[in-house]
Amino acid sequence: MEPTARIYQDLTRILVTREEIAAAVRDLGRKITADYDGRDLVMVCILKGACVFFTDLIREVDLPVTTEFMSVSSYGSGTSSSGVVRIVKDLDRNIEGKDVLIVEDIVDSGRTLSYLVKVLEQRHPRSIHIATLLDKPARRVVDLTVQYSCFDIPDAFVVGYGLDYDEHYRNLPDIGVLRPTIYE
Ligand code: IMP
Ligand code: MG
Repeated sequence: MEPTARIYQDLTRILVTREEIAAAVRDLGRKITADYDGRDLVMVCILKGACVFFTDLIREVDLPVTTEFMSVSSYGSGTSSSGVVRIVKDLDRNIEGKDVLIVEDIVDSGRTLSYLVKVLEQRHPRSIHIATLLDKPARRVVDLTVQYSCFDIPDAFVVGYGLDYDEHYRNLPDIGVLRPTIYE
């Protein structure tokens, strides 16, 4: 029995397997390596959801990157965005003149990232782009340019590979759709 087999009972189905994720992360790493060659790249992990994706992704980028961690609160324990975003933990270092790549787990309404980009732009980076593992384009309510996205997914609440519901399921190696009875 796999160590995580028990939490699979809370899913209706697996949406993206660990093998599909690994292949997509490798491809994205290659793209970033090519696109940021010669740049002063700072990769910013948006805690906590992007942590698993981030640690895999940075190891696929063959450049002298620096890493930063930022924590924003947007959801609480519900499953839809409130539109209220608060910086819980800010960057440790100045990003002026640097090429910033924000690494996020999922873009849903887009409110969180739209706010973050505005905040970070005021610090005068040379560029600021977004890399997300998952995108729910059908849910977007703000205009947001996402440069790198691994998977477009349907409008369902998903967990695993860093994504949580009420802080659970982040340790699931695959991405699955959470059984609605868990949160309804
Ligand atoms: P947005 O501001 O609506 O784009 O929300 C983005 C944030 O909401 C993400 O960083 C996630 O933490 C969370 N989120 C959105 N959809 C899901 C989901 O399906 N599962 C888990 N977290 C989600
Ligand atoms: Mg979350």
